[in-house]
Amino acid sequence: MKNIRIIALILAVLMVITTFAVFPSCTVKPGGGSGEKGAEIDNYQEGGAYMNADFSRILLTEAEIAGKVREIAGRIDRDYENRQPLMVGILKGSFIFMADLVRAMKTPCAVDFMAVSSYGKGSVSTGAVRILKDLDTSIEGKDVILVEDILDSGLTLSYIIDLMARSKPSSVRICTLLDKPERRKVPISADYPGFGIPDEFVVGYGLDYAEKYRNLPYIAVLSPHIYNS
Ligand code: IMP
Ligand code: MG
Repeated sequence: MKNIRIIALILAVLMVITTFAVFPSCTVKPGGGSGEKGAEIDNYQEGGAYMNADFSRILLTEAEIAGKVREIAGRIDRDYENRQPLMVGILKGSFIFMADLVRAMKTPCAVDFMAVSSYGKGSVSTGAVRILKDLDTSIEGKDVILVEDILDSGLTLSYIIDLMARSKPSSVRICTLLDKPERRKVPISADYPGFGIPDEFVVGYGLDYAEKYRNLPYIAVLSPHIYNS
């Protein structure tokens, strides 16, 4: 009888050891499941790339962004039935949004990019727009959809639209993931706006501060101490 108890005990210990060997990541952590805004910061920190202290908060989670991208793609699909728009991504900020958006669309489309620079390394617009890379294709007679990460002062897009008008496209519409209407310096609005956001400097999902944070899968508010230092 005693032997049976000892064998049962050894078996139980062996079972526990095997479970942890096979499922080493099954440890439960405080702070809730994924999808929570706090949990996303924690998960990202585990990768070791950026410190939690760089952000004051998460503004939009991966899931919220994905939902919005699907919604915008659906609207474009409805509006461009039987047409093939030319999606023009404004680099670099729009590269992730553009990639997700065209994959969420059912409408066949062509893709091109323009690179402009308006901010340099700072977080305040200088108002100066420089064309760093022009379009590869002619836009004459085409239905252009400009794809931007964020509509802020509006200076960049109004400059690009004026420039494009000379090449006689059939139509030009604006699609932007983020919109800061409070900051507008010129009267311009998006045909496909994603999220209206408050006047705070945000990073992630393509948006940078001094070329950092573009690869965050979510959008966070940058802590002012980062750009004030
Ligand atoms: P706008 O010409 O002032 O409308 O500026 C648009 C560009 O400024 C965007 O494409 C971004 O590259 C940049 N920008 C504006 N606000 C932010 C922000 O909060 N975070 C990161 N980049 C921003
Ligand atoms: Mg940009």
